[in-house]
Amino acid sequence: MRNTWNFFSPGQILFGSGAAAQLGDLIARKSWKRVFLVTDRHLVAAGIAGKIGRWLAEAMRDVEVFDGGQAEPSVDLAVQAAERAAAYRPDCIVGLGGGSNMDLAKIVAVLVTHGGRPERYFSFNNVPGPVLPLVCVPTTAGTGSEVSHAAVLTDTANQIKVSTLSQFLRPAIAVVDPELTLTCPPKVTADSGIDALTHAIEAYTAVDYAQLDAKDGNPVAYEGRTPLGAALAEKAIELVGQHLVAAVKDGTNRPAREGMALAATLAGLAFSHCAVALVHALEYPLGGALHCSHGAGNGLLLPYVMQFNLKSRQEEFGRIARLLGADTSGLSADAAAEAAVNAVEKLRAAIGIPQRIRDIGGRREQLPVFAAKAFAIKRLLAVNPRKASEADLLRILEEAF
Ligand SMILES: NC(=O)c1ccc[n+]([C@@H]2O[C@H](COP(=O)([O-])OP(=O)(O)OC[C@H]3O[C@@H](n4cnc5c(N)ncnc54)[C@H](O)[C@@H]3O)[C@@H](O)[C@H]2O)c1
Ligand SMILES: [Fe+2]
Repeated sequence: MRNTWNFFSPGQILFGSGAAAQLGDLIARKSWKRVFLVTDRHLVAAGIAGKIGRWLAEAMRDVEVFDGGQAEPSVDLAVQAAERAAAYRPDCIVGLGGGSNMDLAKIVAVLVTHGGRPERYFSFNNVPGPVLPLVCVPTTAGTGSEVSHAAVLTDTANQIKVSTLSQFLRPAIAVVDPELTLTCPPKVTADSGIDALTHAIEAYTAVDYAQLDAKDGNPVAYEGRTPLGAALAEKAIELVGQHLVAAVKDGTNRPAREGMALAATLAGLAFSHCAVALVHALEYPLGGALHCSHGAGNGLLLPYVMQFNLKSRQEEFGRIARLLGADTSGLSADAAAEAAVNAVEKLRAAIGIPQRIRDIGGRREQLPVFAAKAFAIKRLLAVNPRKASEADLLRILEEAF
């Protein structure tokens, strides 16, 4: 039982179209001279990495570019990137890209500061102290990594996604410029957008902070649902309902891109404070084995997990239905909650998220392995509103198959 809750945040959020042009000045004001920029070749091709590098150079920063970032980065890639960074001796690390590059930048900052291999820091609270200053600049509207305490890598040997969670991983500066998402292809927009929705829904429907099985004062990976987290999540859900389909259908739609950029950052603050839960627990083994994107895996699983949680958070699911634009007037509480599942199913169909595990190459005999691996991620199960056994997880996966 807890009587109190915490809110941790990044140092500074600069938000708005054109914000990235201020990046060099922001860094100059901190007197960080040597900048290690983590990005990837798609962002080089889109002209984004070059532009950011130029703005940094104009502010008289010395910049080393690592453009070897990859989607859903592996542990080995993090080791390689950190070796490059250590040789350069940077004052700060900039993560430019989607969640993949931002998370890679976070792990690089940990390794350059504290040494060793990424495995040493996995799970919660294993980073021993502050890391090199981190600046995160998202180019997708999804993960919220620019404000979160999380970094996710793929453990290729064990076919699972692994998180490093530490309050030291919150960036010193987050520069959220919706214009950087204009070049996002529709699939990346859809997958990352439904990831943001999953963050907001899992935070909004998490177990109450007061019900969390942890003592006041003990650091926890996730606090459970708090009033502040719920407020952020509500707004994020509403924004996704208003803007995600439009952003996928027409990537040049600026109001939709702005709405989604705000939604993703708010959802990042909400989940990294309250919770991600069963959807993420199931996605980690699913994505690790089937190599679907994190967002596609979450979007696939989301309605099935909502169905499982429905009765434990009926009122909140009714509210989610309305936030996503459903009319629940005259409906029973039961039916209103169901309407949230329908709204998510409709949304995910409209943006082309896969609907079934078999559609992304999964085999039925893999399901028990996924259930067992998900069941082992106790910190995520602990904040789910309904207690789930391993058999429950298997049933959810079978429904989703
Ligand atoms: N740290 C966190 O808090 C957190 C939260 C959720 C997910 N994640 C992790 O983030 C990763 C997913 O991140 P994501 O959904 O942002 O996608 P991503 O970073 O994997 O990017 C997907 C692809 O889109 C390209 N891309 C990105 N922005 C682009 C742009 N503006 N124009 C053209 N191409 C662009 C990238 O180069 C990449 O090839 C996963 O590894 C996931 O586990 C982290
Ligand atoms: Fe996520």
